[in-house]
Amino acid sequence: MADQMRLDKFLSHLRIGTRKESRLLVRAGRIRINGVVTKDYAVKVHPGSDRVSLDGQDLVYREFIYLMMNKPAGYISATRDRSEKTVLDLLPSVWTGWDLFPIGRLDKDTEGLLLLSNNGQLAHTLLSPKYQVGKTYFVRINGAIGPEELERLQTGVELEDGYRTKPAMVRVLRAGETYDMELVIYEGKFHQVKRMFAAVGKKVLYLKRTAMGGLRLDPSLKPGEVRELTEAEVAILKCGSLSLA
Ligand code: URA
Repeated sequence: MADQMRLDKFLSHLRIGTRKESRLLVRAGRIRINGVVTKDYAVKVHPGSDRVSLDGQDLVYREFIYLMMNKPAGYISATRDRSEKTVLDLLPSVWTGWDLFPIGRLDKDTEGLLLLSNNGQLAHTLLSPKYQVGKTYFVRINGAIGPEELERLQTGVELEDGYRTKPAMVRVLRAGETYDMELVIYEGKFHQVKRMFAAVGKKVLYLKRTAMGGLRLDPSLKPGEVRELTEAEVAILKCGSLSLA
């Protein structure tokens, strides 16, 4: 939790208004600290322990935001781009101004779980190979795959640039004209899943991320939808990455 901060800064951080608008609210006597009206916008508050309210409604201070998105195909995982639509274009306006960025990348045609946050430290931990956070994918490939190829995917395959992948977990979910599989990898090289399957002669027809660490994509989120993580889900993310540290 943040240290003491000036009241006008606290209010603008909560997106109650700009610094100037926040000062006007204070001057108008609409802000109370621990039940007492204050008209001094420079007064210091403790975001963790002081109760600040606007028109009688308690304001909850949050430094970090964590969102879960079901990324649809057709959007790139970047904060801005000259020609392409980015995942930030999908966010409702309430989330603009929070400096959110996607934690890790999914290809333009990949769907599924994408976390967005403004917590750079957590992003770093989740993505660092040192912490071994598993990324689970649903993968549909063209045609059949045999035990020998599955074994190679699990133990490590050599990609076309000579990189040898780390051990992974793979299982077949459905066998037919095309095969559906679940793959868990603990690293995140560029186009890694597609390149791993290419290394065993298979083409990925459809790719969706279904989990990151212990956090699974909420099945009720439709493609393009986003919601905040619950406190329990944030704890799962943090605890998963800490316990593996
Ligand atoms: N691996 C890929 O090939 N693409 C993704 O979007 C994610 C992992």
